Amino acid sequence: MTTTPQLATEQQPAGSLSQRASDHLWMHFTRHSTYSEAGGSVPVIVRGEGPYIWDDQGRRYLDALSGLFVVQAGHGRRELAEAAARQAEQLAFFPLWSYAHPQAIELAERLASLAPGDLNRVFFTTGGGEAVETAWKVAKQFWKLQGKPLKHKVISRAVAYHGTPHGALSITGIPAAKEMFEPLVPGAFKVANTNFYRAPEYGDDLEAFGRWAADQIAIAIETEGPDTVAAVFLEPVQNSGGCFPPPPGYFQRVREICDRYDVLLVSDEVICAFGRLGHTFAGDRYGYVPDLITCAKGLTSGYSPIGAMIATDRVMEPFLHGTTSFAHGYTFGGHPVSSAVAMANLDIFDREKLNQNVLDNEGAFRATLEQLLDLPIVGDVRGDGYFYGIELVKDKTTKETFDDDESERLLRGFLSKALFDAGLYCRADDRGDPVIQVAPPLTCDQAHFDEIEQILRDVLQRAWKVL
Ligand SMILES: Cc1ncc(COP(=O)(O)O)c(C=O)c1O
Repeated sequence: MTTTPQLATEQQPAGSLSQRASDHLWMHFTRHSTYSEAGGSVPVIVRGEGPYIWDDQGRRYLDALSGLFVVQAGHGRRELAEAAARQAEQLAFFPLWSYAHPQAIELAERLASLAPGDLNRVFFTTGGGEAVETAWKVAKQFWKLQGKPLKHKVISRAVAYHGTPHGALSITGIPAAKEMFEPLVPGAFKVANTNFYRAPEYGDDLEAFGRWAADQIAIAIETEGPDTVAAVFLEPVQNSGGCFPPPPGYFQRVREICDRYDVLLVSDEVICAFGRLGHTFAGDRYGYVPDLITCAKGLTSGYSPIGAMIATDRVMEPFLHGTTSFAHGYTFGGHPVSSAVAMANLDIFDREKLNQNVLDNEGAFRATLEQLLDLPIVGDVRGDGYFYGIELVKDKTTKETFDDDESERLLRGFLSKALFDAGLYCRADDRGDPVIQVAPPLTCDQAHFDEIEQILRDVLQRAWKVL
């Protein structure tokens, strides 16, 4: 199973970077036969500047996915490179295992001040999956320390992606991503997501649909037994499946449900935090305060890896006493270089008002992408901020989707390569129904939106011929 239809550009000569990549790199989520049997080659990206990237053949592409929802401030930021170099020279490494260093302290303090409510405690990881893994383990131990040892199960949503460690993968709602690794961690249950385009109930009333979708969580908690459920994991806008924003009132109702049953609400903001939705944390956009936030990706704009789990005072409290400790950690969690880069990245956010730029321009971004709705293959355009999914359909009136064969030909056989060849790096994804995902750097403006729209239009108009 590949979750992202990767590219196979034309065969490169022996000894090229591309050839060496296919000989020695084990690519992530990638079908290697594309290179070994189908004669394709690995695209090699060598340089970035602003929202653009260049490959080893000197061709330029608009990075309409910010790498992988990461490069918020754009490529080629010298000051972030310099922050990394300065820190590496001063103190390249020290762990957070009973010792601390100034960069992690300052970053934790800053994240606590930016996070909503009393989310004041930061546990650093090296990425998003580790943050999710950490959150489940914290939730389990939190309830044990409260004298409720049975509260260990988690609820998340269909088609949602939460990472690849065994716990995070159990929380993930994509059966094809999990089947090779079963049995996974027991106790992870799935409920409906907020895909309003394909709403099984209340398809003509967004708010009623939101109430229905939130109530699925209550039903799952009741079914499993509230005394056995530790936490609910939700993305503010669910990425996998193609950007499902929360209906109005959804998170307020979920918060009520979690409070009613004494279940922790985990906001998995690995994609949504750090400006993707025009706010540092997405709870500020949708008006809710979770018990735990998981984040990563955009915290450094990708200039160095780091992730974090942020907890409320209430969650931290039982860990503060006696012989209790959280027996969990990562050698590179809160790495000094990454922490220093994160601080410099957040300085850019402040100075250049990146969140405000998203809020000022998101209407124009949406309007530009919605122009694509005149194409027969474009069924839905949905998202918020600088985070959109464009769902492709076979029949717009009936919303009929493509079968597996057609989806294979459309996404892997045509779209991924055609978009890339046309100068657009984005993602054609069929973990749910086929979608194109776009999430450009937060510095982008109308000229970039137009470029995205024009390339998508041209390529999507040609897509029918492969079906
Ligand atoms: C919502 C969400 N959670 C967790 C992860 C896993 O993050 P990572 O790849 O940094 O482990 C991702 C990755 O895309 C994600 O989108």
